Amino acid sequence: MEYSKDEIERVLISNEEIQKRLDELAARVNADYAGHDLLVVCILKGAVAVFADLLRRLTIPCSIDFMAISSYGSSTKSSGVVRILKDLDHGIEGKDVLIVEDIVDSGMSMSYLKDNLRTRGPASLKLLTLLDKPERRRVELQADYIGFTIPDEFVVGYGLDYAEHYRNLPDVCILSPKMYA
Ligand code: IMP
Ligand code: MG
Repeated sequence: MEYSKDEIERVLISNEEIQKRLDELAARVNADYAGHDLLVVCILKGAVAVFADLLRRLTIPCSIDFMAISSYGSSTKSSGVVRILKDLDHGIEGKDVLIVEDIVDSGMSMSYLKDNLRTRGPASLKLLTLLDKPERRRVELQADYIGFTIPDEFVVGYGLDYAEHYRNLPDVCILSPKMYA
């Protein structure tokens, strides 16, 4: 796909690469949860694309739920404050839960969320993230399934936004620094 050079510096991970990687991750999830009934939790809004593409590859029995937590607003730096904007519809006690997230950056959001969900007594709690930016980690947090480890660049597309835009791009792209300079 061709993007405006003013807005997008370059494609970092193409949709084709993402789909190939999801084949591999879904195969692992299907094997790891064989014989289990999985609850897949989509973290709104950034994870919608990876969630939908992963979901259609799952062959194990599963149900889904959605949660929204506060993120960066319109800036590109984490405030460190995490709020639940929309909670799960149902309890998760005794359930095998897989959180699906777009990106782990400082790790603050997922660290908070895992602690929060753990208090609700799930049978198991794991995290799948499409992207991991380990260079920016401020708390210790390791995802169980990682799509791609990326350098410290601000990316948009395939669900990820800058000021709520670019979620519709099919590829993960590096945003032109001009956009937030
Ligand atoms: P963390 O709490 O710092 O790990 O931030 C996680 C959240 O920040 C993600 O769920 C994204 O919503 C947002 N975020 C972090 N890095 C990026 C990026 O490069 N592009 C778009 N959103 C990002
Ligand atoms: Mg997010």
